[in-house]
Amino acid sequence: MTTTLAFDVYGTLIDTQGVNIALQKLVGDKAMDFSCTWRDKQLEYSFRRGLMQNYETFAVCTRQALDYTCVYYKTPLTADQKTDLLSIYRVLPAFEDVKAGLTQLKAAGFHLYAFSNGAADALEILLSAAGIRDFFLGIVSVDDLKSFKPNPGVYSHFLRKSKATGNSAWLISSNPFDVIGAISAGMNSAWIRRSPDAIFDPWGIDPTITVYSFTELNKKITEQSPW
Ligand code: LAC
Repeated sequence: MTTTLAFDVYGTLIDTQGVNIALQKLVGDKAMDFSCTWRDKQLEYSFRRGLMQNYETFAVCTRQALDYTCVYYKTPLTADQKTDLLSIYRVLPAFEDVKAGLTQLKAAGFHLYAFSNGAADALEILLSAAGIRDFFLGIVSVDDLKSFKPNPGVYSHFLRKSKATGNSAWLISSNPFDVIGAISAGMNSAWIRRSPDAIFDPWGIDPTITVYSFTELNKKITEQSPW
């Protein structure tokens, strides 16, 4: 049996803090806090839109979260400055360890997919710009269902699209809510704990494995795959 790996994109493959250099020029030493609030609000908007069944794309969640964050930090950016930031967000870089990890996993014969809240066209641009698009057999977007992670339906959708089964499929994510969502939907899941300060939600639903870098994935997933 082939093991299928679904890679979360924002915060896992792609570094959402990559916007910080541009932010520093606009908001000075608030840049780090600003980008964390922006990211938290972006996810909150996706959760709320999913629950309310009031879908807009993840790009809309990102834009509206930026508007909120500007008001929150009392940093009124111009329309052009916001447009520039959102343009940078569309071509953020991959984390440093990603290419090496994906190279190992692809050589080992795993089937690799990108699986994200982002819409497919935005993901094609983002992953190509980061130089990692060709690692993936396909891109699966929640946009097909007009809902967001962690709706269990989107994980089932991934399994259908990749022709995988829950026991032979893994979600790879740095986002604890995504890991818990995948495990709850019957998949395996690896939590990428990029910082020792990262906290996993204490729900009693643990990751199948926890790693600190992409380059640990091949060995640890192989150990857990009985075929
Ligand atoms: C994604 C969000 C969770 O890429 O970051 O799906």
